[in-house]
Amino acid sequence: MEQYIIKGGISLAGEVNISGAKNAALAIIAAAILADEKVKIENVPKVRDVEVLIQAIDGIGAGVEYHNKNTLTIYGKSINSCVIDYDYIRKIRASYYLLGALLGKYKRAEVALPGGCNIGSRPIDQHIKGFEALGATVKIEHGMIIAEAESLRGGHVYFDGVSVGATINTMLAACLAEGQSVLENAAKEPHVVDVANFLNSMGANIKGAGTDVIKILGVEKLHGSEYSIIPDQIEAGTFMFAAAATKGNVLIKNVIPKHLEAITAKLIEIGVIVEEYDDSVRVIANERLLHTHVKTLVYPGFPTDMQPQISALLATSKGTSIVTESIFENRFKYVDELSRMGASIKVEGNSAIIDGVEKLTGAVVTAPDLRAGAALVIAGLVAEGYTNVEYIEYIERGYEEFEYKMQQLGASMAKIDANDTKAIQRFKKKVS
Ligand code: EPZ
Repeated sequence: MEQYIIKGGISLAGEVNISGAKNAALAIIAAAILADEKVKIENVPKVRDVEVLIQAIDGIGAGVEYHNKNTLTIYGKSINSCVIDYDYIRKIRASYYLLGALLGKYKRAEVALPGGCNIGSRPIDQHIKGFEALGATVKIEHGMIIAEAESLRGGHVYFDGVSVGATINTMLAACLAEGQSVLENAAKEPHVVDVANFLNSMGANIKGAGTDVIKILGVEKLHGSEYSIIPDQIEAGTFMFAAAATKGNVLIKNVIPKHLEAITAKLIEIGVIVEEYDDSVRVIANERLLHTHVKTLVYPGFPTDMQPQISALLATSKGTSIVTESIFENRFKYVDELSRMGASIKVEGNSAIIDGVEKLTGAVVTAPDLRAGAALVIAGLVAEGYTNVEYIEYIERGYEEFEYKMQQLGASMAKIDANDTKAIQRFKKKVS
């Protein structure tokens, strides 16, 4: 079983290039099959979740051609099935975007019902509400969601709660429907806008993405396109926090600073220097950071996907911080792991109360999910001594070349096989 081994105490320095946004890429790959012409997509992050979704569309007959590790062409015309089996959705929930794409194009889709995950139950009732508003019938049988329609017509849906997935999935199904659809209480995340821009580049007619009302005028068909995915604001935020936590000086390149506003604001509030440029930000921290209160919100609020990372950062800040999670019901599993490293955190309801400690100490810790795993790496970079982070396959789902990028910034960090005692000794000898 591979794990990260980290020797803490080094201030990160240098430059890091941010990859394409995972959560935009997953939706855009699904959207690409809506056309019967080739679609070339650039800046695709080479992460496990993307690889699994590519396997899923390949499995139903779509053509996929890689030009390099971050550029591929998808050809939807050769699709020969509308059934996505459980094997894929069990690995990544975002396979459910194929529901909207296949329903939108073929008026039928059968996708395994996604399970919950380590951060909550993750229902899809709002996705179903969106499809039904377009005239589809949706039923769940034997663990499969079956969505079908004689024809799809423009509809009006007011989402009961803001949902990134439901917003995108309904957009995918509505692109080729007859007439206009109106999505109200829509999600405004940058990747929602990126998917809308991508669909419009294929000939769709979508207006209002990025606001809470999105209008889609259905078109006859979509054509091929060439598109580049936006940078990943969560990967960028993760490296910003790692730089701040280690009292480093790092230039984070290939970002859209506007997408980072809530993250930047919090860093400045706790004493970090953040310099913004056109497509990069520099993060500098020289002394022990301050405490703060933060509540995760839908965009443009502080992102839930940065919640574990800010807790790891605040674990060694001066004073008491409060981190409140308002999006998911169970996103504090990492707290027990941080406590094993000496953090003083108490979870009460949907808030974590963090009493900043002078230092953390290295330990063997287990990543409970993707972003919590990244948070444990941040803690390991700060902790005294060695930290082993287990179950790093979670982290590799969403971070491209994570340990390589950290090494480039000077981190004493390596990916090793837990049973390879020689590799562990070699690493410890090298960094001591
Ligand atoms: C997307 O998940 C992201 N995943 C998540 O990132 C991210 O945390 C989340 O958006 C919020 O920003 C992908 O894009 C692949 P939601 P999604 O629908 O779409 C409830 C990561 O680390 N809800 O916006 O599933 C839901 O339970 C991952 O990259 C319903 O009740 O999130 C949650 O409480 C983790 N019914 C809230 O809405 C529904 O039908 C927001 O969920 C759908 C959602």
